[in-house]
Amino acid sequence: MATTPLEFPHGFVWGAATAAFQVEGAVDEDGKGVSVWDTFTTVPGAIAGGDTATEACDHYHRYPEDIGQLADLGFGAYRFSVSWPRIQPEGIGKANAKGIDHYRRVVETCLERGVTPYVTLYHWDLPQALEDAGGWPNRDTAHRFADFAALVGDALGDLVEHWITVNEPKVASHAGYSDGIHAPGIRDPRRGLKAAHHLLLGHGLATQVLRQRLGSSSEVGIALDLTPVTAATPDPADVAAARRFDGNFNRMFLEPVLQGRYPQDMVEWFGGTPFVREGDLELIAAPIDFLGVNYYRPHVVRSAGHTTAAGQGSPTSLDAEVVTPPGLEVTEVGWTVVPEGLHDLLLRLRDEYPQTPLLITENGAAFPDVVGADGQVDDQRRVAYFDGHLRQMLRAIRSGADVRGYFAWTLMDNFEWAEGYGPRFGLVRVDFETQQRTPKASARWLGAVAKQNRLPSTGASS
Ligand code: FCB
Repeated sequence: MATTPLEFPHGFVWGAATAAFQVEGAVDEDGKGVSVWDTFTTVPGAIAGGDTATEACDHYHRYPEDIGQLADLGFGAYRFSVSWPRIQPEGIGKANAKGIDHYRRVVETCLERGVTPYVTLYHWDLPQALEDAGGWPNRDTAHRFADFAALVGDALGDLVEHWITVNEPKVASHAGYSDGIHAPGIRDPRRGLKAAHHLLLGHGLATQVLRQRLGSSSEVGIALDLTPVTAATPDPADVAAARRFDGNFNRMFLEPVLQGRYPQDMVEWFGGTPFVREGDLELIAAPIDFLGVNYYRPHVVRSAGHTTAAGQGSPTSLDAEVVTPPGLEVTEVGWTVVPEGLHDLLLRLRDEYPQTPLLITENGAAFPDVVGADGQVDDQRRVAYFDGHLRQMLRAIRSGADVRGYFAWTLMDNFEWAEGYGPRFGLVRVDFETQQRTPKASARWLGAVAKQNRLPSTGASS
């Protein structure tokens, strides 16, 4: 049987991603301030197993080895985040030179190894001092973030061309301020809504200051976690619930960033957005060079059965609940494995935002890895996960989705936020006792795909 050519476009970017708090450790070294996540990990019951990130993967010291490994595996790009409290321990004022020096060394190490750095400015580690002043529900935090972006832009802009302002403003606001399952642990959906707006405003302001500082070859984008949403049944109540879920999850972030407006149905549902000031949406919709897409799973949604009349909603009652269709594979964190969801999402973005280049900034899965007698991790479920998602991504590209690159989540097993060290998403296994690194089978598999810029043929020989 003839093999199918499974080539990716020329120049396609292949990388792996991490986030500062999840990997660095060294939480009080070189003048670093306290972040909301440092605080949250001390709250009894907040993190599974009482885990903390004081050492994490010790990436703060081991980054040369880790970046070397990434390069050796065949990846050409590394997405990492800058810890805000390493640069501004109190969230304001001039830059801490040791913090800047650290990230310059990280970037230089990437460049020496032929790895292109993709720098995320905000991956959730807000300086605690700014949280004490009101956190993201406080509009001033967006301006503080722009100041931080300016410091990092000035410090790294001669070496870094690819910037992601904010990672997943939806998770940062909903999990952090509405549901309280992430730092800072606040359960107040109205504050969550404000936080989301100010995170987006921070994105807009940071984009502006980066544009002023960086050369025209630099690219700026934002990473949104996006999901395809379908109604569990054709019942109009379920269809309406799915639309609200989509509005809350996707459209409340896509539309302001790419169209300069909040979706009217959601504004009405929430009973208004009085914290939006004139000019905010123009700032938020500043042109971006790419949209970062973090894809993990789709959602099937039904009405929770207590909707009253239209317009009587609120951020506290979305009246939409997620159902897990039976028979689907689920990962260690209970997320369904649906590679077609990535295809469907990319085609939606192609159709709704045709002028926006896309970058998959995160995609990956946690599975219960087993270390063999030979010390190796033959994680074939993760290989199959990547294979399935990459095939669906390629299908979408062939149908006209403008996808420029793919970053696996994540380079190495790390501190998975409220889940602690339980779920392992890494390409590289980390033994948290010894800090020993062992590339898993999936790391070699994906590295080979990256090197060849093509998927292995289906292998269906006959
Ligand atoms: C995303 C986060 C990332 C990681 C993965 C599993 O929401 O951006 O830090 O936790 O989920």
